Order: sequence, then structure tokens, then C-alpha cells
Amino acid sequence: MHRDTLPTNAALMARRKTAVARGVGQAHEIFVARARHAELWDVEGRRYIDFAGGIAVVNTGHCHPDVIAAVKAQLDLYTHTCFQVVAYEPYVELAERLNALAPGAFAKKSLFLTTGAEAIENAVKIARAYTKRPGLIAFSGGYHGRTMMTLGLTGKVAPYKLGFGPFPGEVFHATFPNELYGISIDAALRSVDAILKNDIEAERVAAFILEPVQGEGGFYVAPPAFVEGLKKIADKHGILLIADEVQTGAGRTGTWFACEQWSVAPDIIATAKSMAGGFPISGVVGRAEVMDAPAPGGLGGTYAGSPLGCAAALAVLKVFDDERLLERSKAVGDRLVAGLRRIANKHAAIRDVRGLGAMVAIELFKGGDLAQPDAALTQRVIAEAARRGLILLSCGSYGNVIRILVPLTASDALLDEGLQVLADSFDAVPQWSAPVLPARPRPTLHRRSRRHRPPPPSRWCAFAACRRPTTACISSCASSTWTSSAASSSPCSARRARARRRR
Ligand SMILES: Cc1ncc(COP(=O)(O)O)c(C=O)c1O
Repeated sequence: MHRDTLPTNAALMARRKTAVARGVGQAHEIFVARARHAELWDVEGRRYIDFAGGIAVVNTGHCHPDVIAAVKAQLDLYTHTCFQVVAYEPYVELAERLNALAPGAFAKKSLFLTTGAEAIENAVKIARAYTKRPGLIAFSGGYHGRTMMTLGLTGKVAPYKLGFGPFPGEVFHATFPNELYGISIDAALRSVDAILKNDIEAERVAAFILEPVQGEGGFYVAPPAFVEGLKKIADKHGILLIADEVQTGAGRTGTWFACEQWSVAPDIIATAKSMAGGFPISGVVGRAEVMDAPAPGGLGGTYAGSPLGCAAALAVLKVFDDERLLERSKAVGDRLVAGLRRIANKHAAIRDVRGLGAMVAIELFKGGDLAQPDAALTQRVIAEAARRGLILLSCGSYGNVIRILVPLTASDALLDEGLQVLADSFDAVPQWSAPVLPARPRPTLHRRSRRHRPPPPSRWCAFAACRRPTTACISSCASSTWTSSAASSSPCSARRARARRRR
């Protein structure tokens, strides 16, 4: 197609709206022209710092020269034979490398596919074939993909599952532990027990499946003690443990697989995204005897484990060694957390800064009130940051989490520049403030008659600058700007105490 003029983002957006199904979302109304490492440029020539990394796909950076060179070399040899028809060495070499990297002192085997969802589908097939059981227990807030089985496993309805059911049966959701929301490890493990009592007997459950850090769900880290508890239940009943490392894998969390940081080894690991630095390939690695359960021909796919994907993945592994990216992942995480904490100190809305390695997020609440997740502020900050040249993504069941998946090859200077844009964006956008009531009642002379009784003393905050009812004031005071001890002596509570004494 010949173009006399360069397209604009707006013009491409208009064409996209006409040509592309609306169900395919788009976080930013930006069209990329080129990308390198942690920066990209749109079709209008604007530069952006990329803190999204194509949703955790370019840990080695956009177009890492070594990855591109490996793919170019592969292009000159062959691009496709289908591994099930005429096999090729890069596939076998990649399997050997992943088998060695996966945790667990037992023999392992691998297979390769194309997408993360396909990896999960195959992990489920393998677990069912091995255990000869149908049941699967996944977790609330978990995300596993957009195919029917992976949607069934996903524990977040909107927007992924809306209108697409019914989903495959024999899938149950236990509660994922979440300290911020008061869900203890014990409570989460009890919810697993409850499923085994109320919904499906343990002898019919093939596997537990969980993300070491929930991705779409909000970057909540699975506590090691929780995973240990789950593994105990699994071992007691012959249930397999599947780690969905599609987002956490390939060095994002400071180790190649996040589950290397557990004290127990999963039986099966699903991997994808960054393993090939921007080229489509996914994989399943696990206990050899489990992986060998399906009959020959039961696994695979036309493009599964394409030569280009294998070549790219092998190059990514080399880049990790050459550039010591696992160490860098920890350092990037530390720098991000420190920078985000500085922003959080200024903005009460940010109630949590968390993560594992370089998988880092902040969670936003109205006025810092944990009962009021602030999706609107999250979107305002993300839009403002994009306007200022920083690409960010949201996540979380309430859409109130800003996650960072910046390429690990980003320099400290670029990380700091991105953090500064984020800080400026927080300063620039309006933050939540409690609703202003129509008019503050004038103080009336206290008379003993019922008719002239002053308004109930506890209704208004006595703090001069505060025009809020005490209920609204206390909820924000108690949870953010006021520490819990300060809250007990906040103007509102002091006024309530005085009122009680008067009565
Ligand atoms: C944890 C997890 N599992 C599975 C998937 C699905 O991967 P894909 O989009 O490549 O099918 C994703 C994608 O975001 C993911 O984050």
C-alpha cells in the first residue's frame, strides 16, 4: 500500500474501529512505528518509555539485537516443517534447557506450543491424562487465558468471561490469600478444604493451578507458606500442582521461574510470553512420567514450537546469561519499589507497593480507604502518564492496580525517568475527595426545647477544613492520613466523645 502522508494515531484508530472487532481491547490509542529495548515511538514520532513490555513479553527489551540476529539466521535456514512431521534441533535443545532450569530433583520433559493459553490447555490435558481424574481447582482472581478451558479456570469475570459461557465443568475456584484484603493463608487453605468437602471429592481432582504472582488479578504474590500448605493437601490426595508461569516466568521475578523461590517444586509449569523475547512460543515443562502420560499424537499443533520461536527462545536464554538479567531483575525491582514508595508517601491513594523481583505494582483507593478501590483514579493516572510519554497498564479485580513490567534491559536512568513521569502524573490529576455536603449548618443557640435542638453532634466533622460528614471523614482518616491511633483522637472522634459526655 502506497502512502503519501504518514498516518496519525487518530486516523488509524478510526480505521481500526471500522475494521477490527471491538472485543479486542486497546489500552492506549497509540500505534507503534518502532520499538527498541524499553522505548517505543508512535506513528507520529512521539517517544514513549515502555513500562508495560507488551504485557510481560519483552523482558529482554524490544528487538534485542541478539534475538533478532538469531531469528534472522533461522529465517535463512527454514521457517516451518511442523515438528511432528520433520523435527529440528532447536526444539530439542530448548527442551533440554528448560528441563534443566525447572526446579525439582526429578527427571523432566517439555513440549512447545504457541500461546500462553495453549500451554495451560496442554498442562490440563497432561494432568488429566496422568491422574485419570477430571477435577481442577484454580483460584479467585487468577487469569489463565482466553480459550474456553482457560476461561473456565480464570477467576475474574469482567471482561474476560462475559457472555462466553458455559465453560468446561469440573473446575472450582478456591480463595487466593490476600493480606491487603484480610484473606489469611489459613482462610485460603480452608477454602480449598471446603471445595473438597462440598463440591468434589479429592480423589477426582487432577490438579491445583495457580500463578506464583497473580498477573491480571492484581500482582498479589502467593505466600510461600500458602504454596507449602497447598502442596501438602496435593500430596495427601495425589493431586498435581501446576504453576502458571506465563507472566511470572522468563526472569521477571528475579529467578527464571518464580516457583524456584518456593520450597516445593510444581509437577507441571506452563511458560510463554517473554521466553522468546517477542516471538510467539509457549511451553510446558514437568515431571517426565507426568509429561509422558498422553499417548503419541495427543499433544502438539501445526505451529507448536515453531523454529523461529525456538531460535528466539535460545537467544533469550543466552542474553540472560550474557547480561546477567536475573540479577538485573532484582535490581530493577528494588529501584522501582523505592521510587514507587516515594510517590506513595506523597499520595494517600496509594495504599500498597508490592511485587516480586521486577514484577511490581501499586494499588489505589479513594482517599486511601481500603473499602473503596479507585479504578477511576487509576485510569486518570495511566492516561496522564501516556500523555507525558509513559506506557502503563492496569490490572486487578477492581481495576485499581497499576502494574509495571518494564524490560529488564532498561537503564537506571530510564527507570528513573519513567518513575518521574509517574510521579508528575499523580501530581497532575485530580485525586478523590470526599463528597461536599450542601451547606454546613450554622451553629444555633442551644435551647432546651426539642424544636431548637442543634443537629446531631456526631454528623459533621469539627475539623475546620473538613466539610464532610463524620462517617466519610473517619473512613478516610482512619485508613490513610490518620494512623489508627491518630484516628481515635481525630477531630471527628473527639467531637463524638464530647457528644457522648454531654448526653
Ligand atoms: C498468567 C497467565 N496465564 C495465561 C495467559 C494467557 O496467555 P496468552 O495470552 O499468550 O494466551 C496469560 C496472559 O496474559 C497470563 O498472564
